[in-house]
Amino acid sequence: PITRRADALIARMTLDEKLGQLTQLGAEVPGPNGETAEQLIRAGKAGSVLWTFDSDLIARLQRVAVKESRLGIPLLFGYDVIHGYKNVFPVPLGLAATWDPALVERAQAMAAKESWVAGVNWTFTPMVDIARDARWGRIVEGAGEDTFLGVAMARAQVRGLQGPQLGTPERVLTSVKHFAAYGAADGGRDYDSVYVPEVQLRNVYLPPFQAAIDAGAGTVMSAYMTLNDVPASGNRWLLRDLLRGEMGFKGFVISDAFAVQSLQNHGFAADNPDAARRGLLAGVTMDMASNSYLRQLPALVKAGKVPMRQVDEAVREVLQVKLRMGLFERPYGAPERKAAVFNDPAHRAATREAAQRSMVLLRNEGGALPLAASLKRIAVIGPLADSGEDILGSWTVEKGVGVTVLQGIQARWPQAQVTFSRGGDMQRAYPLPWDADQGKPAPALMPAVDQQTELARAVDAARQAEVVVLVLGERANMSGEAASVASLALQGNQQALLEAVVATGKPVVLVLLNGRPLDISWASSRVPAILEAWFPGSEGGHAVADVLSGAVNPGGKLPVTWPRSTGHVPAYYNHNRTHADETARTFTSRYSTDAPSSPLYPFGHGLSYTSFSYGAVTLDRSSARVGEPVTVSVTVRNTGAVAGDEVVQLYTHQRSGSAARPQRELKGFQRVHLAPGEAQTLRFTLGRRELQFWSPVTRAWGAEPAGFDVWVGGSSAATAHAEYTLTR
Ligand code: IFM
Repeated sequence: PITRRADALIARMTLDEKLGQLTQLGAEVPGPNGETAEQLIRAGKAGSVLWTFDSDLIARLQRVAVKESRLGIPLLFGYDVIHGYKNVFPVPLGLAATWDPALVERAQAMAAKESWVAGVNWTFTPMVDIARDARWGRIVEGAGEDTFLGVAMARAQVRGLQGPQLGTPERVLTSVKHFAAYGAADGGRDYDSVYVPEVQLRNVYLPPFQAAIDAGAGTVMSAYMTLNDVPASGNRWLLRDLLRGEMGFKGFVISDAFAVQSLQNHGFAADNPDAARRGLLAGVTMDMASNSYLRQLPALVKAGKVPMRQVDEAVREVLQVKLRMGLFERPYGAPERKAAVFNDPAHRAATREAAQRSMVLLRNEGGALPLAASLKRIAVIGPLADSGEDILGSWTVEKGVGVTVLQGIQARWPQAQVTFSRGGDMQRAYPLPWDADQGKPAPALMPAVDQQTELARAVDAARQAEVVVLVLGERANMSGEAASVASLALQGNQQALLEAVVATGKPVVLVLLNGRPLDISWASSRVPAILEAWFPGSEGGHAVADVLSGAVNPGGKLPVTWPRSTGHVPAYYNHNRTHADETARTFTSRYSTDAPSSPLYPFGHGLSYTSFSYGAVTLDRSSARVGEPVTVSVTVRNTGAVAGDEVVQLYTHQRSGSAARPQRELKGFQRVHLAPGEAQTLRFTLGRRELQFWSPVTRAWGAEPAGFDVWVGGSSAATAHAEYTLTR
């Protein structure tokens, strides 16, 4: 019936109305003839509106579409609701650090509800791009470097945002992005070329997309960059053969903003008409922001250069999604409920819980943490320590401020004298164009002379205190889109501030607010306690204080390998073995004279205020036929004095096969809570689904007969080991 309803509408549509459904208007971008968004919508020349989250404006434009346009087809309102709408959760990299897909699903369901009541019925989330290079600014928007964790997070996010199926009330349409391999940009420079061989594309980059599609993601966003020299948004093989064919995607494809028009910038399309034609024929259903389809396709269709059949097919895809999500029946949000939903205490509480669970204790020498409740003089230092904006991270929708680290510490130690000192400033990333559009001035840099004064004040404050909480990292706009960096070093005067504060000899706790691993090698051997807090969101400062005080025992784990320096990127744990035995001193893949090759902190690392012991890894059989599941069991015990969470991780290695396999691959994880002395036996299944891979030799997915190593532990450096064999 949905296809019939869509086709009945298509039969009544003019060409302009059809192209309208394939057009997402940039709210501020005038139409082909200078029309306003409202005029275009009334004429049926728009299917969606971008970057509008003013509920009154949304309601007004939707009324024009539904009541004043000839066919009354409702609009999709698209925005990047990435980690919360009004109540802000940790950035996605932080959410991934929870290793708790159920929590992520709940968080995204709340974000969806807030978004939906406001009228924003389509979010450009989740970003599932695997990222192995921390220079790439958008690493903050994904689940990090690992495909298995990425799959779990992709699935959880789509379920949370969209519900069990498209059309679930009070949820929104999702767009999984950026198809495909956008995170592998050359040199970590956003938008740069991507060269990824098919074997990596299929084994590393595509599985999270497949998971999102299987979870029902209604739309896919095609990426900006060239993939093996063909722009992703003009790549017929990628968007038709692979996505709609092999991967079974049934929704529609939206381009990234202006990506259709920029097929010309890539030196791919000859001119704008050619860009529109090749975008549509390649399989980009809807053009984001560039008005290329609206402007160029009428003449091309009339000249027979673009078959009407292709236009109709694309329109059908859009209408089917709108029908399946119930948009015709429920075109409006519920702005009258905005206040109630935004102020729902459960939402605010959920952001705090998510922030607590996202934090990763990187180092804690000599039990430096937790801090005593009896502290009387605490110095809170750093340019980010009292920033309510930066604590939220990038891509926040409704402007607001979060609880700062300073405020969190003041609330947690009410009897203490808490002094604050900025200590200087940092460079800011090149501002995104739409920062200016939103009238949000980028923070000014502090003159060098003031930096010195600030630094001296901070050192004084440190000297007066019993303990220093030093908050360093990045401003929110220093990571995210178009925020790549050439160096992972702490920017501005932060390294100088760090060294000066440590030189006072006072106990220092370093709290990092950032969207990517930074070069903290100096701190890692001199600062006793380091807490990775990411950009933790609305309640971030409280969550930091909860963890520093021990009210909450940290249990997050790194979703990325932490490099020692910029020269260590790309850094990822699941690389292949090399030709020499790994115990050999030379002729293996390593840096020889200037740095250890190991990461500063391995993927999956994270400490706790308690300790855990692992029993022997046992298997229910030592040999199985390919496809027969093997059950792995391990008993984990809390051997410390306080309750805590452990993320138990299972890694495998296939010892031989049609192609080399990574030295270790994550194939299972469970986050468990254990009381002191408590033990739990966890079970994992290794079956075809876990062990299969796409072989570049057989050019097919399959599990192979081979010997397998299994490790279980609290990080990718796990040592508890077992082995088994798969036979034909
Ligand atoms: O969704 C984003 C995308 O990730 C980057 N370019 C702009 C889009 C819309 O805001």
